[in-house]
Amino acid sequence: MAEAGKIKNIGLRGVKVADTKISNVDGENGILIYRGYRIEDLAKYSTFEETAYLLLQDRLPGTSQLEEFNRQLVSARQIPSFILNTLNGLPHGAPPMDVLQASVPLLAMADSDLTDDSREANVTKAMKLIARVASMVAAWQRIRHDKEPLPNDETLSHAGNFLWQLTGDKPDPEIAKDLDTALVLHADHSFNASTFACREVVSTQAHMYAAVAAGVGALSGSLHGGANAQVMRMLMELREEKDVPGWVKQQLDSGRKIMGMGHAVYKTIDPRAQFLKEMCFRLGKKLGQEHWCTLSSEIEESAVSEFERRGKTTIKPNVDFYSAPVYHMMGIPGDLMTPIFAVARIAGWTAHIIEEKFGDAQAKPALYRPSSEYIGNYCGKTGCTYEPPEKRG
Ligand SMILES: CC(C)(COP(=O)(O)OP(=O)(O)OC[C@H]1O[C@@H](n2cnc3c(N)ncnc32)[C@H](O)[C@@H]1OP(=O)(O)O)[C@@H](O)C(=O)NCCC(=O)NCCS
Repeated sequence: MAEAGKIKNIGLRGVKVADTKISNVDGENGILIYRGYRIEDLAKYSTFEETAYLLLQDRLPGTSQLEEFNRQLVSARQIPSFILNTLNGLPHGAPPMDVLQASVPLLAMADSDLTDDSREANVTKAMKLIARVASMVAAWQRIRHDKEPLPNDETLSHAGNFLWQLTGDKPDPEIAKDLDTALVLHADHSFNASTFACREVVSTQAHMYAAVAAGVGALSGSLHGGANAQVMRMLMELREEKDVPGWVKQQLDSGRKIMGMGHAVYKTIDPRAQFLKEMCFRLGKKLGQEHWCTLSSEIEESAVSEFERRGKTTIKPNVDFYSAPVYHMMGIPGDLMTPIFAVARIAGWTAHIIEEKFGDAQAKPALYRPSSEYIGNYCGKTGCTYEPPEKRG
C-alpha cells in the first residue's frame, strides 16, 4: 500500500506508452514533424487536404491521388438530413463543443458500413469524419442563429468551404488560405490528451466514431483545445487595459494562469505559435485590426518576463495564443474556436485511431490498462467488516 497523501499525479509526463509513426514533438528544440516533414514546410507549401492524406496514408499524395482524395472529401461533406433535424431540436444556447461531441455518434448511426472494421472501411470513415466535422460545426453556427445550413460549394477548398458554410459569404482567397494553414498547423500533435483519449477508446476495439467522440470531449477542456476560447476572453477583457504588465503580475500573484502559454512538452517556443504570430500581424495589417496582434504580443512580452522573474523560463506562447486573434479577425466567434481546433485535429485523431486499431507501429494492438496505487481505506486481506445500515455509526 502506498503511504497515504503521496498521490501519483504525474499526468503521464515523459511516459512513453506506445510507438507511433505519425508525428513527433521535440519539445527541447521546438521541432514538430508529421510523418517526417517539418511543420514549417507543411504550413508553407501544403494544404489541409494534402496534410490529412499524409497523416492517414504515411506518404504525400501524387497529383491524381490528391485529386481523388479531394473528390472524396467534397462528396462526403453533406450531412444526412436526420442529423440536421436533430441539431434543429437542440437548445440554441448549447455549447458548440457539446453539440459536436453529441453529433459524432449520429454520424456513426448514418454509416451503413459501421460494422466493417477493415482498414479500407476505417480509412473511408476517417475521410467522412474529416469532411463532416467541418460541415457540422458550420451547420450548428447557422442553426443556433435561426439560419438554414448552407449547401457546400464544390469549387472551394475544405477551409474555404467551411468559411462559406459558416458565414454565408464567399471567402477572400487569402483568408481561406490562412485558415487552411491554421488547419495544417493544428492537424496533429503526437500523444496530446485528446489523441490519447481516442487511442485509449479504440484500443478496446470500439469503433472510430466512439473514439472521436471521446477526443472531442478531451479537447474541450481549457488546459487543452479550450484554451483558444479563453485566450479570446482574455483579449476581450484587456482591450481597454493600459497596464498589461500590471494585469499579468496580478494574474500570476493570484495563482491564475495566462491562457495560451506554457506546454506539457515544449520547453521553448512552440513552432506553430511562431507561425501564427506572423500570420496574425499580416492578417491584422490587411484587415486593419493589427491591434489584436499588438495586444497579444504585449501580453506575451509581459508574461514571459514575469515568468522569468519567477524562475519559470520555459513558459512561452503555445498554438492557442495567436490562433485566437487570427480566428477572431476571420470573423469566427470565441466559442467556435475550439470546435475549429477539432475541424483540424480530426485528421490526426483518425490517423492515430487507425494506427492503434491495426497495430501499425507496434507488434500487435494492445488494450490500454494502466495501473494505479490504491491509497484508500484498507482493513487487511480479509477486507473491512460489512455491517448492515442500522448498525453503522
Ligand atoms: C499546458 C499546461 C497545462 C502545461 O502544464 P505543465 O506541464 O504542468 O507545465 P509546467 O510543468 O511547465 O508548469 C510549471 C509551472 O508553471 C506554471 N504554469 C504553466 N503554464 C502556466 C500558465 N500559462 N500560466 C501560469 N502559470 C503557468 C504551472 O502552474 C507550474 O507552476 P508550479 O510549479 O508553481 O506549480 C500549462 O502550461 C497551462 O495550464 N497552460 C495554460 C492553458 C493552455 O494554454 N493550454 C493549452 C496547451 S496547448
